[in-house]
Amino acid sequence: MTSETLQKARDFESQYGPHIPDSERPAFHATPTIGWMNDPNGFSFYKGECHLFYQYHPYSNEWGPMHWGHLKTRDFLHWERLPAALAPDQDYDSAGCFSGGAVELPDGRQLLMYTGVQRGHNADGFIQDVQTQCVAIGDGVNYEKWGDNPILDGKDLPEGGSTIDFRDPKVWHDPDGSFYAVVGNRTAGGSGAILMYRSTDGLKWEFVRTLDSCHNQYGKMWECPDFFPMDGRQVLITSPQEMSPVGLEFHAGNGTLCLIGEYGPDKGFTRCSAQAIDYGLDFYAPQTVLAPDGRRIMIAWMQNWDTAKAKPCNCRWFGQMTLPRELSVKNGRLIQNPVRELENYRGARVIHRNIPVCGEINLPGIQGRVLDMTVTVRPTGPGLYRWFRIRVAKDGEHETIIRYRPDQGTLKLDRIRSGLPHDIVHTRSLLVRPQGGEIKLRIILDRFSVEVFVNDGEQVASAVIYTRQSAGAITFEAGGSAVIDVEKYDLVFEREEG
Ligand code: FRU
Repeated sequence: MTSETLQKARDFESQYGPHIPDSERPAFHATPTIGWMNDPNGFSFYKGECHLFYQYHPYSNEWGPMHWGHLKTRDFLHWERLPAALAPDQDYDSAGCFSGGAVELPDGRQLLMYTGVQRGHNADGFIQDVQTQCVAIGDGVNYEKWGDNPILDGKDLPEGGSTIDFRDPKVWHDPDGSFYAVVGNRTAGGSGAILMYRSTDGLKWEFVRTLDSCHNQYGKMWECPDFFPMDGRQVLITSPQEMSPVGLEFHAGNGTLCLIGEYGPDKGFTRCSAQAIDYGLDFYAPQTVLAPDGRRIMIAWMQNWDTAKAKPCNCRWFGQMTLPRELSVKNGRLIQNPVRELENYRGARVIHRNIPVCGEINLPGIQGRVLDMTVTVRPTGPGLYRWFRIRVAKDGEHETIIRYRPDQGTLKLDRIRSGLPHDIVHTRSLLVRPQGGEIKLRIILDRFSVEVFVNDGEQVASAVIYTRQSAGAITFEAGGSAVIDVEKYDLVFEREEG
């Protein structure tokens, strides 16, 4: 039965969603049907099709009582719109259906596992949430909330665990036949932890162990966990709040963290290394899916709580997802590359090889705002150039700059002049692996975003931009002299959204 609250959201999105023209949206990044989008939820395959749900407030371009929006994709690039899946319509989720995951049940139904938030008051009269884990079961379009919700609450927490910060279950069906879920929690000391639960049917759950906890080292509360084996290692990802930077690794505020280590059912998770996941300005709450062909694919909210105030006036949608990325682990580091399906949408190739750059140049055929371009920069001789700048989304007033300094080994993404109305942080620098002055940058532009994949996916930096679409120039500039190869494809998409 569709509740009144959910029906209202469905009516609203089908009435007003179609008013937003395709030209006001990215060509291939997922956006909300209307209104506000944050975290990806329930990124999973169901009956052979890939579903993506998302944190959704259809009624405004601001965060509000959380619903789950719903998309389906055949190639991670075209997004078919389905009606909103969940609305806050029960006592236990009256303040919002927060983030979670999805899994196919053995009987062919789809289970959504999410955080139900109920709002009350603490002893000082201040508003305080209670967070529990809940499920809804359905057929890929309509979902019924389980009569015995919540399925995990305060009594399922380890000692000292917080009922205020207990959220974002990521669920999977393990090859051992059980269902598992990892959930973010705050410990008695105020810092984050990831809890693991097991179930035989997806409905009755038991606590297994605390997988890892941060002891206030990598931020505080750990949100939106995911946990999966990859290339012989075990990967735990999470989005910590209140992070402090360590050199250029991590940035202050809401960051992302990838812990790579080992896992055994008896000994638990042993962490061997820690790194940021994306080094740009707009990236949070990533979630992965295991595709039927064996690829582990990650998508994230291409935004951040710290940047979410900066939006165009009166925009009718706000929030978009990153380009889905194929993951692997190499030399103990997470490697991310665009989904290979992107190559199917490449138009004509423009290629320039061994072009000397000294000062600022344009190259014939190199411009546009929806494209896939790889630039390799090399020194001309034994001496290094001082810096190299690629400017994209450029006109007389605007530019988004990607700058490399080989002496420092730093790459900087700068969207100061990229159409954003708020004076928030607009630059981010990252350390890249020194390679004698050579660097390879794959730059994906899609109208309102720039995603830079460094040295075949060793690092990624993502940022949204709101530069007017006519600003399509691209230039290359060296301080000193450098030589570049540029290979560029326009990306060509037919629109099919409903
Ligand atoms: C992360 C997050 C989650 C929560 C959701 C609420 O961005 O804060 O922890 O479930 O957003 O919309």
